[in-house]
Amino acid sequence: MCSVIIKTNLYREFILASQELSQFVGLLEQHRQLKRISAPVSPELEITEICDRVCKGSPESNRALFFEKPAGYDIPVLINAFGCEERMALALGVSQLEELNQRLGQLIDLRLPGGVGQAVGRGREILGALLSAGLRPRKVRKAPVQEVVHKEGAALDFLPILKCWPKDGGKFITLPQVVTRNPRSGVRNVGMYRLQVVDSQTLLVHWQRHKGGAEHERQAKAFRQEKIPAAVVLGGDPACIWCASAPMPPEIDEYLLAGFLGGAPIEFVNCVSQPLEVPAKADIVIEGYVDLADYRAEGPFGDHTGYYTPVELFPAFHVTAITQRKSPIYPATVVGIPPMEDYWMGKATERFFLPLIRIFMPEVLDIHMPAEGVFHNLVLVRMQKRFPGHAHKVIHGLWGLGLLMLAKCIVVVDEWVDVQNLSQAAWQALGNVDWNRDILVSQGPVDQLDHASYQPSFGGKIGIDATAKLPEEGYSRQWPEVVAMTPEVKQHISDLWKDLGL
Ligand SMILES: Cc1cc2nc3c(=O)[nH]c(=O)nc-3n(C[C@H](O)[C@H](O)[C@H](O)COP(=O)(O)O)c2cc1C
Repeated sequence: MCSVIIKTNLYREFILASQELSQFVGLLEQHRQLKRISAPVSPELEITEICDRVCKGSPESNRALFFEKPAGYDIPVLINAFGCEERMALALGVSQLEELNQRLGQLIDLRLPGGVGQAVGRGREILGALLSAGLRPRKVRKAPVQEVVHKEGAALDFLPILKCWPKDGGKFITLPQVVTRNPRSGVRNVGMYRLQVVDSQTLLVHWQRHKGGAEHERQAKAFRQEKIPAAVVLGGDPACIWCASAPMPPEIDEYLLAGFLGGAPIEFVNCVSQPLEVPAKADIVIEGYVDLADYRAEGPFGDHTGYYTPVELFPAFHVTAITQRKSPIYPATVVGIPPMEDYWMGKATERFFLPLIRIFMPEVLDIHMPAEGVFHNLVLVRMQKRFPGHAHKVIHGLWGLGLLMLAKCIVVVDEWVDVQNLSQAAWQALGNVDWNRDILVSQGPVDQLDHASYQPSFGGKIGIDATAKLPEEGYSRQWPEVVAMTPEVKQHISDLWKDLGL
């Protein structure tokens, strides 16, 4: 993990003024977090191999990579830009990711003086109002992302799109912001959904069934609408890139979150061929429509589960225009066997959304989704237990909250346990459990990428109550005390320590 010492305020001013990827590259360079590579490396497999080694290498070698001239292309590729805590924090204008938790937490306290009671049941509207207060989106007529406009015959061929793994079904755009509007309400959704290249003017959009884009697809079908106007935004403000991956409640525009983090509204410009607006300071925008009369086989794709996800039908995206800066940067990521860059994007999500979970469940003190659990496979929860069955209430509650419905294994521990410390959490999770009594086996929705469930998207789940048990829970013995030294002896030995030569 990279160490985090950043002059936050200075940085924030810098990034607010910019909302630009090229300036973020400069900032990473200033912080010795970026390596420029001038060798002509191929976007086909070679960039992946370099990126994978860097992600899994020493903290010193884990840098963002800027491929100045990928073989066969004129546009540089930026990859692993969010691949450690320091870079992810720099991208979001905080000194460390924990600050995300505090920022939203403070805002909730400030704007909801009536306490959490009034928030329950209205979480969605409240979140929208909190994020958008004072941050009305700004529209501009002239935008850097429209310095160059390709309309008729616009083709994807000039973009250095990666083929990530040998058995991938083709090239994939891996770090996009896919913009659509809800056909009924008109509210914007921004999602990070990979897109497979079929030919120069056709992509396939892999929005999974639990995601905002797929909901727009369902609603469009209900309205007998065959085309969904869409835009694939690449680059721009790093906060905009990240927010596409943030599981905002439906009907809240993710760009509000990017504006909130930057402390300034995002500037938008009208698309040139679709009835949509996109961030004016993006690097590249691929405009088009998702064609609900045209489904094709997407995949396989080497995914963040560490396995190839199989071929499935997804709708085609037909390109109607491409707009770009004169000198754009093509942003990309590679997912695969963890840990990789997406772990840090998920870590930022985990920190940012903790206060929201606490609106509904204030007894939840912390959560941790370790890299090995690939987001949904393992959620560790630290809670303040107050009554019999309380841990079970938390497990059921989390399974009912947003995308946490996809969590396969939830482990709940007591409030003194640090769930960010995997060794401590494992010690508690293994030692405090009577496997006959302290587990909840259930079933429900699982991630569309889950390969273990016997049916797609529906499978088994487990909740593990690793808290100290109460007499009312049927535990008739005395719960043991954790071993600890007396403070007096600790102090005495600390005073002696330097003379002991240890
Ligand atoms: C690097 C990366 C790639 C992702 N790729 C996909 C994808 O291809 N399809 C998908 O449905 N979700 C994908 N996700 C997760 C979604 O971006 C995430 O669930 C997000 O909340 C979706 O936005 P939505 O809530 O507006 O649907 C990816 C996340 C990351 C960090």
